[in-house]
Amino acid sequence: MKESTPEPVPVLQARGLVKRYGRVTALNGSDFDLHAGEVLAVVGDNGAGKSCLIKALSGALTADAGEILLDGQIVRFHSPLEARRAGIETVYQTLALAPAMDISSNLFLGRETRRTGILGSVFRMLDKRAMNRDAQVQLDNLGIATVQQIGQIVETLSGGQRQAVAVARAAMFGTRLVIMDEPTAALGVKESGMVLDLIRRIRDRGLPVVLISHDMPHVFEIADRIHVHRLGQRVAVVSPKEHTMTEVVSLMTGALRLEENGELVDATGHVTGLPDEDAHT
Ligand SMILES: Nc1ncnc2c1ncn2[C@@H]1O[C@H](COP(=O)(O)OP(=O)(O)O)[C@@H](O)[C@H]1O
Ligand SMILES: [Mg+2]
Repeated sequence: MKESTPEPVPVLQARGLVKRYGRVTALNGSDFDLHAGEVLAVVGDNGAGKSCLIKALSGALTADAGEILLDGQIVRFHSPLEARRAGIETVYQTLALAPAMDISSNLFLGRETRRTGILGSVFRMLDKRAMNRDAQVQLDNLGIATVQQIGQIVETLSGGQRQAVAVARAAMFGTRLVIMDEPTAALGVKESGMVLDLIRRIRDRGLPVVLISHDMPHVFEIADRIHVHRLGQRVAVVSPKEHTMTEVVSLMTGALRLEENGELVDATGHVTGLPDEDAHT
């Protein structure tokens, strides 16, 4: 973070977000920065405020104070729909799929392609053929090889395949960024690997991804930067290349603190970890 070139404007930013529920302060002046082309992991203990943070960013809740900037412009989302219209797609932990419908219908849920002419505009007839074609192209592009039948009913899919459908839908309609809340939490090793591959592919196609996760090995496998959330605030942003999983967990629990100069200090002020250059007090 010390380049001499000016920092590019982050794709998505938040400054001083506050959200209170009665006596509980879920967000206590939270900052956030997502840069172009990155996978940013958001980690933190249960109740740290991670879900509230991403809900504020995706329009699912309105913060009591603070501001959100998309491409450097202040935005105020009053609903997830407004955030979606601005290009922010979110995959919630509860996938919000329609199990009884097929893959293609799920991909276009709420955004169906209508037939052209009067059939579409007056009779609201769906262009199922166009949707199936677009859905297949999208799944192929994302390399979701295990989901071959676009007409397959979603409740017959495995957990990983359902997750893939939800992620594909986000990738399909997201134009600025994709947010995912714990996408691998309910998945086995192989299925998690598939979803991580998918996240990588989305990033490589140019959409930055915000990944909320508890899973340190996954975070270290895929994240370009790690945002550590604690007690409703961002307490650190670190690189998985410069810090260990143990250090990140210690930042999450408060056992370690990250100083402005990059030093990691414990509760007694003892320096335990250093960045590459010499520390000076
Ligand atoms: N709708 C709500 N009503 C009351 N308290 C809430 C609500 N949503 C979240 N909280 C509280 O806010 C805090 C942060 O929650 P959350 O963002 O879900 O944490 P995380 O996702 O990091 O586990 C918790 O103490 C939680 O109980
Ligand atoms: Mg949560």
